[in-house]
Amino acid sequence: MTSPKNTAPPYPDTTEAFDAAERAMWKGRTEAYAGSFARLCAHPVEALLDAAGVGTGTRVLDVGTGTGTAAAAAQARGARVSAVDADAGMVAAARARGLDARTGVLPELPYLDAEFDAVVGNFVLNHVGRPRTALAELHRLLRPGGRIALTTWSARRGAGQDLLGRACAAGGAVAPAYMPRLDPAEDWARTADGLAELLGGAGFIAAEAAELAWDHRSGVEEWWSGAAGGVATVGLVVTSQEPETVVRIRREYERLSAEFVAGDGRLALPHLALLGSGRRP
Ligand SMILES: C[S@@+](CC[C@H](N)C(=O)[O-])C[C@H]1O[C@@H](n2cnc3c(N)ncnc32)[C@H](O)[C@@H]1O
Repeated sequence: MTSPKNTAPPYPDTTEAFDAAERAMWKGRTEAYAGSFARLCAHPVEALLDAAGVGTGTRVLDVGTGTGTAAAAAQARGARVSAVDADAGMVAAARARGLDARTGVLPELPYLDAEFDAVVGNFVLNHVGRPRTALAELHRLLRPGGRIALTTWSARRGAGQDLLGRACAAGGAVAPAYMPRLDPAEDWARTADGLAELLGGAGFIAAEAAELAWDHRSGVEEWWSGAAGGVATVGLVVTSQEPETVVRIRREYERLSAEFVAGDGRLALPHLALLGSGRRP
């Protein structure tokens, strides 16, 4: 049985459907994202900027900037920062913190060839329907010798990453009629080797990648708020359920959260991700 609240978007092409679902998934979610998952995604930002060699005077583009976390951190290093995101609400939030942000959608961004010394993308690669074409575009934007660094979620998951999904299953959530799925022909191995290979295949040299592990610290309510606000895939699942199912999911979430409560009463949620980098020849 599927929830009547979900209908498949009318796109025959898998990639078009994926990208359209991504646009719909982020639209109107800026506040919910800022109050929950943005804090999670902030963890690798300094490592990301280091991997891209971002420092004083670096001309850097933060692609898929969201509310501007990586862009603001780069600005704090004295870099000359541009930020771009597919979602107008995210762009407005990034601008509100004083960033030079504009709307643009991978794989075609509104910047000149070789305009940047560095390009960073914090958890955006996993949201594009054509990752190889997107990397080719980022290659175009870098000057020769310029560096790219990207984070993305790995196939291996930390136990904390499954908390909300487990609560959905235990609460009897039904799969939405439509879930964004990457065209298998576009997919790649979500491992450190897989990411390095993807970057190498896009023409970057000295391509390398490593797994990152950290415990995300969050209040119980804060972590729930992202899912309840429709953020990310789990948010799509939660918000597509009937109200009584959401109540059951919430109850299961509270029960399962106990596994992750640390001494200070907040959650410590183990997460794994990948950080990859490379250089334009
Ligand atoms: C998980 S959020 C990460 C945001 C931000 N980098 C951070 O660290 O908080 C993913 C962001 O990528 C954006 N995005 C998704 N697909 C995109 C695309 N094709 N081109 C540009 N931005 C995209 C979304 O609008 C969203 O803001």
